Amino acid sequence: MNAQSDKEEVVKKKIKTPQSLRGFKDVVPEHEAYWNAVEDAARNVATDYSFGRIRLPILEPTTLFERSVGKATDIVEKEMYTFKDPSEARVTMRPEATASVARAYIEHGMLNKPQPVKMWYFGQMFRHDRPQAGRYRQFHQFGLEAIGSADPILDAQMIIMAHRMLQGLGVKSKFLINSIGTEDSRREYIMELVSYFKQFRKKLSDVDKKRLTKNPLRLLDSKEEGMAELKADAPQILDWLDEDSKQHFMTVIEYLDEAEVPYELDPFLVRGLDYYTRTVFEIVQVDDEGVKSQNALGGGGRYDTLIEQLGGREDTHAIGLAMGVERIIRAMKNQGVVLPKDREIDVFFCQLGDAARRKGLVVFEEFRTAGVKIAEAFGKGSLKTQLEMADKRKSKIALILGQKEVLDGTIIIRDMESGGQEIVNMDKVVDLVQKQLGGK
Ligand code: HAM
Repeated sequence: MNAQSDKEEVVKKKIKTPQSLRGFKDVVPEHEAYWNAVEDAARNVATDYSFGRIRLPILEPTTLFERSVGKATDIVEKEMYTFKDPSEARVTMRPEATASVARAYIEHGMLNKPQPVKMWYFGQMFRHDRPQAGRYRQFHQFGLEAIGSADPILDAQMIIMAHRMLQGLGVKSKFLINSIGTEDSRREYIMELVSYFKQFRKKLSDVDKKRLTKNPLRLLDSKEEGMAELKADAPQILDWLDEDSKQHFMTVIEYLDEAEVPYELDPFLVRGLDYYTRTVFEIVQVDDEGVKSQNALGGGGRYDTLIEQLGGREDTHAIGLAMGVERIIRAMKNQGVVLPKDREIDVFFCQLGDAARRKGLVVFEEFRTAGVKIAEAFGKGSLKTQLEMADKRKSKIALILGQKEVLDGTIIIRDMESGGQEIVNMDKVVDLVQKQLGGK
């Protein structure tokens, strides 16, 4: 090695390859089949149940989340990507989308439309949480929101939709469900809960002591040591529900029984966002024995006062849910769901030599424009390799173009099943292939 290349070596070592941010993931083409499957399933279920798609901004004013998700929640306290934009406005990269949907409902005067207004979304959310398996800082949610009705049938319908969608994707799921009543009935319950946990104050961790004063309901889903025993004897929210909420909840349960959706009543389920009222639920993956996995695939519930809280018309009741797309895909993989990696094709184009490759660009485009599902491998030289690829992708027909055919203005059509070949005029090839495929 000479002095010059030594120097280059040193310079090269200094260059640091940029890496993606912690908790931010690329979706590389090999995983696309899973993403397509989830996106298609989401679009189909939403369309079948008459939900219209809403595309929301990623940046929102910070106050939107403070006033909806709640200032004392983990999300708003610790996890938001909040900064001042160049015009000094406090903005936040959305940690969830229900608040944005509620904002849009009010902003676009959707209360003048037939109610409930049903909307769905699919997109990135951002939470600066500690990354671990199934938990990212940028993740995707598929969400459904129905605003403008208190009817318990909507609560059940949301759950049924999520269940059917997951079933279609090959993921076994179960719903944990609870009711947290109205704000009034909850106030009394919270007083009871606080006085119960106060007896054990000394035993509580610092986190739980803080919850006791700031957000007592969150004590119920505390995973801190020793809390399981304390929680077992804690007062249960269902016993404190007002009559209407109780009736509402019973009706939701009856609908779920009717639809045979698997659920489990979970008296400790309270959720980590402040806007919920009445029905709350979480979706968990279950294995063949019905054992639940830890990470929720989705969650949701009613938010009957959020619209009013954000300045909309009072008594605009609503319900929604959101599912974590990365978690659904993980569950599909865990459950051994296999998807075809490549798009199905009917025709594979093989070329030999430079002239054939050049002509191939045009031929390929003619087929594509005619709507034929065609693939190519212009980067490959050997006919054997190209025919193997055609075979692997289960193509019905291979087209073979060599130097000679280019000169003659012909092309070879090969039937991949029988191996039979036919030389045809290049001008007629699209028509002939379409006929052979039964398309024309
Ligand atoms: P959430 O429970 O905060 O609810 O999130 C819903 C789902 O998003 C979770 O169950 C999980 O699958 C996924 N998720 C949340 N955080 C992460 C993360 N850090 N990494 C990967 N996946 C994650 C909501 O966001 C509410 N807006 C749901 C809703 C809609 N309620 C009413 N309407």
